Amino acid sequence: MRLEKEPQGILIVDDNPTNLEVLSESLIQEGFQVAVAIDGESALEQINYHPPELILLDVMMPGMDGFETCQQLKSNPDTCDIPVIFMTALSDAQNKVQGLSIGAIDYITKPFQHEEVVARVRIHLQVRTLTRTLQQQNHQLKDEIEQRQNAEAQLRQANESLENLNHQLEERVAERTKDLSDALRTVQRAQVQLIQQEKLSALGQLVAGIAHEINNPVNFIHGNIDHASGYTEDLLTLFKLYEQYYPNPVSHIQNKREEIDISFLAEDLPKLLASMQVGTDRIRDIVLSLRIFSRLDEAEVKDVNIHEGIDSTLLILNSRINSLITAVPINIVKEYGKLPKVKCYPGQLNQVFMNILSNAIDALEEKAESHCQNDGPNDSQSDWIPELKIITKSIDQENVNILIQDNGPGVPDSLLEKIFDPFFTTKAVGKGTGLGMSISHEIISEKHHGTLTCKRLEEGTEFSITIPNFQDVND
Ligand SMILES: Nc1ncnc2c1ncn2[C@@H]1O[C@H](COP(=O)(O)OP(=O)(O)O)[C@@H](O)[C@H]1O
Ligand SMILES: [Mg+2]
Repeated sequence: MRLEKEPQGILIVDDNPTNLEVLSESLIQEGFQVAVAIDGESALEQINYHPPELILLDVMMPGMDGFETCQQLKSNPDTCDIPVIFMTALSDAQNKVQGLSIGAIDYITKPFQHEEVVARVRIHLQVRTLTRTLQQQNHQLKDEIEQRQNAEAQLRQANESLENLNHQLEERVAERTKDLSDALRTVQRAQVQLIQQEKLSALGQLVAGIAHEINNPVNFIHGNIDHASGYTEDLLTLFKLYEQYYPNPVSHIQNKREEIDISFLAEDLPKLLASMQVGTDRIRDIVLSLRIFSRLDEAEVKDVNIHEGIDSTLLILNSRINSLITAVPINIVKEYGKLPKVKCYPGQLNQVFMNILSNAIDALEEKAESHCQNDGPNDSQSDWIPELKIITKSIDQENVNILIQDNGPGVPDSLLEKIFDPFFTTKAVGKGTGLGMSISHEIISEKHHGTLTCKRLEEGTEFSITIPNFQDVND
């Protein structure tokens, strides 16, 4: 604790005026400033006003004795640092010990030896000065440490708030980025759906329109071919009767009969009518398939024969299957299992078949072309026959599985997981849109709660569709 007033000189406290005088004189002679007090009480009072640098304190005094005075000094934080030297008679060994134990730093014995007193006073003043310097330095050090600690704490705080700020900033950037990429994906999906819906309904309307227009005239022809066959038969029978009963008609009739080669005509006409019948049957089948395929707009779930859907899609693709881009027609292998009717959105499911099958044909054509370029039309190409295999089966009470395999070039492993991404295509600009697989995936997984996966075969690619055969109508 620091004294507020600068301590000065030496205070001598003694009830004996002779002692006071002797001591004062010795010390003044040596150049010290000296003050005196004749009892404990007045000494304490004086110390309050003029704190000395050192106190010489007599032990035996009337009223407050030296010990008590010293105790009071030591218990007051303002005065506890002032060094006290007791003055005792030579014989008082116990006094000396007691004095030292309550805080005195030394003692001098009576009668006083001038040199000894001066020497002790000097030493203690020196010690006192050194102690004070030390204390001051200590204080300064403590202050400095405190300042540094404060500065460090401020720095740490500033650092922490900077880190927090940084963190918040990073979080906000991450959030924004996520929001933006979410928004982008949503927009892309919406765009994909719009384009696809547009395409679906346009194609559906076109196919449905054609099917409808062809249906009536075909039925008309088909229905009349029966009558035409009957009439022809009647006419030919009649003609034979004429020949039988009038074997020698006039020359005009005979010439005409030879000109039209009547026997060939009579033989060929029924065959011709029969093949017309086959033709109209085929057209009726096609119309039916077109109608099945064109259920694109049907919004509700229906009980559907999956095989009809696949077949009608294959029929639509028939010209591509038989085109000569692949040098030989694509071999279609069907391994149809026994399937229950499946509750589904038939138009959308047909669209999935269409997307997968036309990709497979694209892949087969691509392989055929590269064969041509690499090898020319030689052995290794003739080994390879483009093939599309469709396998269907019930995998349990609730699910059906459709596998569509091709022996085309296959999908590289690195691209397998990208196939279902919107706009992912490996085809030339204008040929591929990259939408088919992403739409198909959405139709199967979201509309039908099924799965659509793609895997590489040893030779070619396999798409696997699994859907439950019952759809929740509320979806
Ligand atoms: N059967 C397949 N064999 C090889 N690659 C295929 C097959 N099916 C799809 N792919 C690959 O998946 C890509 C995406 O197909 P899709 O979404 O239908 O878009 P697009 O046919 O317009 O390219 C195709 O570009 C092709 O690289
Ligand atoms: Mg495609």
